Amino acid sequence: MSFSPYLLKGQKALVTGGSSGIGESVARYLAASGASVVVNYHSEAEEAHKIVDDIKSAGGEAIAILANVSKEDDVKAMFSQMFEDFGTIDILVNNAGLQKDSAFVDMSLDHWNIVIGVNLTGQFLCAREAAKEFLRRGVQPHISSAAGKIICMSSVHQVIPWAGHVNYATSKGGIDMMMRSIAQELAPHKIRVNSIAPGAIKTPINKAAWDTPEAEAKLLTLIPAKRVGDVEDIAKAAVWLASDDSDYVNGATLFVDGGMTLYPGFATGG
Ligand code: BGC
Repeated sequence: MSFSPYLLKGQKALVTGGSSGIGESVARYLAASGASVVVNYHSEAEEAHKIVDDIKSAGGEAIAILANVSKEDDVKAMFSQMFEDFGTIDILVNNAGLQKDSAFVDMSLDHWNIVIGVNLTGQFLCAREAAKEFLRRGVQPHISSAAGKIICMSSVHQVIPWAGHVNYATSKGGIDMMMRSIAQELAPHKIRVNSIAPGAIKTPINKAAWDTPEAEAKLLTLIPAKRVGDVEDIAKAAVWLASDDSDYVNGATLFVDGGMTLYPGFATGG
């Protein structure tokens, strides 16, 4: 990691879904950049505690907190625990997300509700709790020029429709409008709200799409850069959006997708 351990010094960060995949990498990079990090997890306690131990061994500060982000009581308890241990919050990375895929006509209400609940309502609940604390505390100029930063983990599927994944794509489209509406409302209070829209990144959520040479070759037809992304590609973008280096960026979505949203099918046709 090439980050300065002073970039986010003194800042307190919460990464939801921080026990694996993109969230894990974001948690590690924020910690390496000097932030104290809450690694939120839902089912992977062992993994979350291992990440916390690694961060501490490297001289950083971290704790793991169990919470289902789609449950209001869990979210409130998680923020209370964070404030008890770290005092406040400066950076929220709204990352927890999942897929429950099926053909549209076979999609159960349960699978619709779970995906919307975690991916969209979960981001709403966490953003709301973080924003309340940002407003209460205000700017601490020696810490950051912002009163707080929220980074929403979206997806290329906030703009690319996705057959067989209607619940997921809908949740990501919702994140875009939620993020921009919150950004508009909170910008006067020096709170910055932005999204990262990852393309295909090698994580457990999409393993089937890249873990055989045949699957990877098929996936690469959708990626002009001709490589599947790594979690670090996203973590580096998250550190930048969390830092004052992006102080004038608000309500933006940063696509980190190797060009997946460039309509690759049109490269040779149309
Ligand atoms: C999904 C992945 C998918 C990628 C590109 C992500 O948001 O979670 O499963 O590979 O979008 O389609």
